[in-house]
Amino acid sequence: MLTNLARCLPAEAAHRVAVATLHHNLGPRPAALATKANLGVTLVGLEFANPLGLAAGFDKNAACFNGAMQLGFGHVEVGTITPLPQPGNPKPRVFRLPKHHAVINRYGFNSLGMDAAARNLQKMVAARPGILGVNVGANKTSQAPIDDYRRAVAHLARYADYITLNISSPNTPGLRNLQTKKHLADLLAAGRAGLNEAAGDGDVSAKPIFLKIAPDLHHDDLVAIVESCVEAGVSGIIATNTTLARPDHLDGVHAGESGGLSGAPLFEAATAILADVARLSDRRLGLIGAGGVVNGWQAYAKILVGADLVQLYSGLALEGPHLPGLILHQLAAMMDADGISAPHQIKGQIPDPVKAIKYAKGLCEKILEQ
Ligand SMILES: Cc1cc2nc3c(=O)[nH]c(=O)nc-3n(C[C@H](O)[C@H](O)[C@H](O)COP(=O)(O)O)c2cc1C
Repeated sequence: MLTNLARCLPAEAAHRVAVATLHHNLGPRPAALATKANLGVTLVGLEFANPLGLAAGFDKNAACFNGAMQLGFGHVEVGTITPLPQPGNPKPRVFRLPKHHAVINRYGFNSLGMDAAARNLQKMVAARPGILGVNVGANKTSQAPIDDYRRAVAHLARYADYITLNISSPNTPGLRNLQTKKHLADLLAAGRAGLNEAAGDGDVSAKPIFLKIAPDLHHDDLVAIVESCVEAGVSGIIATNTTLARPDHLDGVHAGESGGLSGAPLFEAATAILADVARLSDRRLGLIGAGGVVNGWQAYAKILVGADLVQLYSGLALEGPHLPGLILHQLAAMMDADGISAPHQIKGQIPDPVKAIKYAKGLCEKILEQ
């Protein structure tokens, strides 16, 4: 009922209701999986109950991650959190495109800031039922954006199982320039410096760092990003954030809104970038695939091209809180049909994204016909 109510609200109001609902732990619980397979994934020393996670941007201020994990997600990434509070862009700034199963947003890192997020994390982190990622970014008016990453990491790392440096939001001017080789080494060093600063709080300096990249990158950019990450000892890459591209067929009242496009129209492009990163990194980095996942076969396809884990956001916003449970059931059914007992057995087995998508979709259709 809450899902139907939320659909009647403007997108940002629906988002607020969803965060409040999950803050009070009022979401649905997924049914137990009937499978012989074990959906668990071990990555960078962390044990994930399953490969599916909630991508950053939903729980921007770390207000509801425990409730979100109860929906079935093996991990939740909170943020993007900036050092100082900032309001983000003027409203309206997020739009649903239901016909295209898509969202356009230009939130612009609306954040209560790292102090407020730390207070929330401190209260709730001990009770977390899954793995917690903390995603950080720079303030819009910062004079030293790279140093913002160091400050946010130093302040928040003690609460995180892993940290994500988000340099791929299209809604903070200049941010995506940090993806260029010229800036990457400094950025990754700033992340490491933040961890070392936080090291007084236990064994924080060894926490995994992920870099989140855009889908609007060329192969040469990816080569530089992968090599910089390997050189800097980064644990992995999250591919991808939202896209600035607009497919020709996109229409409807909100199709012309500026901002990042996510959901179905992003799926193939994000999976192609993920596949390229997988090939370039050749198992030297952990990989999290995001972009357009709304069902089990899409998650399966991302793992087939090389993802260790998969994240989604738009699917949850468009389909509602039952989606993670549904995807886990579909994933388990596909693993059973393939005779697979753990997700790592299919990781990277079909590196070509077109073939991986075709295979995963076909397998799902075969199961549905039975
Ligand atoms: C409304 C909205 C807000 C987002 N905010 C953030 C954010 O603050 N930080 C971030 O790293 N990604 C953010 N994202 C990107 C998502 O985490 C994800 O990478 C992207 O939407 C692709 O996945 P999806 O197609 O499943 O949504 C946001 C996405 C949406 C739709």
